[in-house]
Amino acid sequence: MFILYPLLAAATLAAAQPRAPTKPKLIIDTDIYSDCDDVAALALANLFHARGQIELLGVAVDTPSRYGAPAVSSINTYYGHPTIPIAARKPVTNATFTPDYPHLLATRYPGVVRDGEDTPDPVPLYRELLAGQDDGSVTIVSVGYFENIAGLLNSTADAVSPLAGRDLVAKKVKEIVIMGGKYPAGSEFNFDSDNPSLVQFITENWPTRMVFTGYEIGINILAGAVLTDYAPKDSPVRAAYIAYNGPNKNRYAWDPTAVIYASFGLDNLFVYGNHGGSVYVQNNGSDVWRDSPTKDQHYLAFPEREGANVTIANRLDEWLLEKVH
Ligand SMILES: *[C@@H]1O[C@H](CO)[C@@H](O)[C@H](O)[C@H]1NC(C)=O
Ligand SMILES: *[C@@H]1O[C@H](CO)[C@@H](O)[C@H](O)[C@H]1NC(C)=O
Ligand SMILES: *[C@@H]1O[C@H](CO)[C@@H](O)[C@H](O)[C@H]1NC(C)=O
Ligand SMILES: *[C@@H]1O[C@H](CO)[C@@H](O)[C@H](O)[C@H]1NC(C)=O
Repeated sequence: MFILYPLLAAATLAAAQPRAPTKPKLIIDTDIYSDCDDVAALALANLFHARGQIELLGVAVDTPSRYGAPAVSSINTYYGHPTIPIAARKPVTNATFTPDYPHLLATRYPGVVRDGEDTPDPVPLYRELLAGQDDGSVTIVSVGYFENIAGLLNSTADAVSPLAGRDLVAKKVKEIVIMGGKYPAGSEFNFDSDNPSLVQFITENWPTRMVFTGYEIGINILAGAVLTDYAPKDSPVRAAYIAYNGPNKNRYAWDPTAVIYASFGLDNLFVYGNHGGSVYVQNNGSDVWRDSPTKDQHYLAFPEREGANVTIANRLDEWLLEKVH
């Protein structure tokens, strides 16, 4: 005789039935201005899109430099996805960061968008992309500042949807994955550098799951040095890493972890570091994880095993070198 445990029975049944596709659908919000890890994050999203593991619906730039959107366009184009929509925060400026890579990518690498001025505004693009998707199907990946996402949450009904921003997010967005903050407490650049009141607004009003990947994750994942010797010379990802960081040098991988989690979930690479609770953001952008109230909020941590960070770094390097064309 055999005993069929209820859990096994359910699993067997689920395996036997055709399942609706659950491919994650991502919209990435990036500062793509100073740190080159935004480029790695976009590279991963393009790679996973090319492999059919996710769908990259669009990219929104949350810094005002006119070179941000073209830099995104050069990366998307390199990976064979020149038509993925890109929006950029307005008004645009001529600002560049030193050391600069966005201007380099915008001017020396092929792309479709060549000036941030020539892009749609982020909030209308978000609303259009969300309105066109199945309920509860979209993951927003935030690896920069918070203008665009606060604007989405605060938006009002328009021609694409009768829903106000918060209701549209509640209906369409499965979760938002945010690179920002430090856990269980501390300060971090994305939260405290631009406009902490927007981070407060979002963390207090977001109606679906929020997952945070904090300072302490990326600072322990060093990757990208391999690009110098092993990536093709025409790779904008290689160019960005060399321009920002110098040749043959690793960089902390904060932003890529948000794309990895958004694409594959915890996947034995991460665990949740909290048991309940929720984030509290102070006026200066510093954050504290509080035991209550418990919300559908989580922060990533490394599994308790030696070299958990090395596993992720190695995988990231492999992904950054994976050929797509
Ligand atoms: C920005 O750069 C463009 C050329 O790329 C130039 O025409 C324009 O005057 C510059 N604007 C400012 C405010 O410097
Ligand atoms: C939300 O919109 C209102 C009205 O336009 C505006 O006054 C307010 O500053 C906005 N808040 C955020 C966080 O964007
Ligand atoms: C893994 O973490 C250790 C301890 O923080 C660090 O010394 C090492 O450089 C990290 N390795 C990688 C590949 O990121
Ligand atoms: C931010 O504000 C909190 C609360 O007032 C304070 O405890 C913390 O030290 C401040 N952090 C920084 C980096 O100034």
